[in-house]
Amino acid sequence: MCGIIGITTGSGPEAGDQSVLDVLVEGLARLEYRGYDSAGLAMVGPLAADGMWRVRAANGTRSLDDLIKGTKDAPGHPSAGIGHTRWATHGRPNEGNAHPHADCTGNLALVHNGIIENHLELSDRLIDDGHHFESETDTEVLAHLVESHLAARPDDRLAGAVRLALGEVRGAFSIAVVHASDPDVIVAARRVSPLIMGVSDGAAFLASDIPAILGLTHDFFILDDDQVAELRPGSISVTTLDGDPVEPDPLHVEWDLDAARKDGFDDFMAKEMHEQPKAVADTLLDRLLPDGTLVLDEVHLTNEEFRSITKVFVVACGSSYHAGLMAKYAIEHWARLPVEIDIASEFRYRNPVVDGNTLVIGVSQSGETVDTSQAVREAKALGAKVLVISNVVDSSMARDADAVLYTRAGPEIGVAATKTHLAQIIALEILALYLAQVRETLSPAEARGLLDAMGALPDKVAEAMERGDAVHAVAERYRTSPSFLFLGRHVGYPVALEGALKLKEISYLRAEGFPAGELKHGPIALVEPGTVVVGVATRTPVWEKMIANIAEVKSRGASVVLVANDGDVETARHADDVLWVPATEHLFAPVIDVVPLQMFAHSMARLHGLDVDRPRNLAKTVTVE
Ligand code: AGP
Repeated sequence: MCGIIGITTGSGPEAGDQSVLDVLVEGLARLEYRGYDSAGLAMVGPLAADGMWRVRAANGTRSLDDLIKGTKDAPGHPSAGIGHTRWATHGRPNEGNAHPHADCTGNLALVHNGIIENHLELSDRLIDDGHHFESETDTEVLAHLVESHLAARPDDRLAGAVRLALGEVRGAFSIAVVHASDPDVIVAARRVSPLIMGVSDGAAFLASDIPAILGLTHDFFILDDDQVAELRPGSISVTTLDGDPVEPDPLHVEWDLDAARKDGFDDFMAKEMHEQPKAVADTLLDRLLPDGTLVLDEVHLTNEEFRSITKVFVVACGSSYHAGLMAKYAIEHWARLPVEIDIASEFRYRNPVVDGNTLVIGVSQSGETVDTSQAVREAKALGAKVLVISNVVDSSMARDADAVLYTRAGPEIGVAATKTHLAQIIALEILALYLAQVRETLSPAEARGLLDAMGALPDKVAEAMERGDAVHAVAERYRTSPSFLFLGRHVGYPVALEGALKLKEISYLRAEGFPAGELKHGPIALVEPGTVVVGVATRTPVWEKMIANIAEVKSRGASVVLVANDGDVETARHADDVLWVPATEHLFAPVIDVVPLQMFAHSMARLHGLDVDRPRNLAKTVTVE
């Protein structure tokens, strides 16, 4: 949610090779998935007018294009700059509320990701002291607060003023600040919201996320909570809020920039769906041994600790929550452990009953979703063992957890989760089987059969992906339908929820997912002639009941689209249209069955002429509560 970036090259004869403006603009393009309500940048240096140059644009998904047009008069050789792409929280998505925000003097510019919870109380005080506010945002207060501390103690310089300002602030933030009086310096800080930094070629830079600056280095430093960094050309120094020096944690990343490019696909979502078989295969890699056992060496919990677990909680949001729901069926069935699953934002505030024998699994692609990261912290504080499933190495959640199981899907840029969702289901199923292995709740023969079936999943996902044209044809038939009901039972239920989420988030169509058996308790009132019902009707132990529920909606005039196993003519008889998928062991079926529903949503969004990678009102990583 919101992306920030900054670079300092200095302006002397030994200034770094990077062009400040190019790095900011390219970085913002790669951060856009975090929000696109507005974009803006500020640059400082001897050639900037008055030492400071600031441009902002707010035009929805076109904000960055407008910003780039606005940079045609940018000063030639600034020494440092900061940039921002916004997902609006406080204040409308207009230019006045776009970042960077300035102080009263216009010499200081600041970008922020997060929410300042006590901004009203602080701004009342600053207004009484004579400060003039120009925006409706919570962020602007930071610019004035730093300004007031800098005015009171100029010898402490910008970093000292930022430290004092942040000592007064409640909430979440990652910030970057520049000041015309010290044009080689960027001061950055964070609490909860992510921030990484790097150094190369006489420059130093920072960003909310790795892909933004991956072209500049593969070696990063991670800023921790309540740390303040001073970036100068070629160097970074970090202190606590009290000013004590600290060494930031290094992070080496193997990905290359290609992973963050579209590679000839029309959009990132199409590219990322195409990468699903590899994401599944890579997530399985080295964890399945040829002798049929599972190894999870990187999960630093001992088998004794796993055996001591009496209850499992899964906490997550959105598609990650749906992956967690699928895991509930697998863990309960194979490992015979009770599993509760909770929406992360609800878990934290409801006094959950957990203890040292509870395993809390936080599932998050980004590892930065604040609802989930706060739930995980709460669980840890309550004494639970915390395991995180994350796609981003060394993400905040990964660092907070007792153990991490990484999905290996590579960077996902499209706002709609696709390949990471499949990789999450696989990681959770691996964990379920591992729990069964250490708890000896499955016979070796059963475990062997399941692991064989698991090994075949990448090919089956690839087969499901080949049906794109057929899925598109079905989407075309329902292009004008205004609303959709997605139904499933057992593991088909979370698949239905995910299918509905995909459709609503990128097509803006009314789509609701229900457990098919629950329909008759209310939602069936929505069904009338022409209602489109999408059912997950692959073969599970409850297939007959699912088909009976489908008959109930069909007899009330619904048009029925069913996800069915290849060659299953009996299921096809109940459908107006079929989305065919290969069959597998029923607890693995979600990995395959969700694929046509992703493709259906993608086709529908394209048919409606929508930008699938930048759906309205959304951002890839939600770092505000
Ligand atoms: C999925 O398509 C969504 N964009 C969203 O629901 C997402 O899954 C959710 O915000 C959780 O993100 P995370 O996995 O990074 O925590």
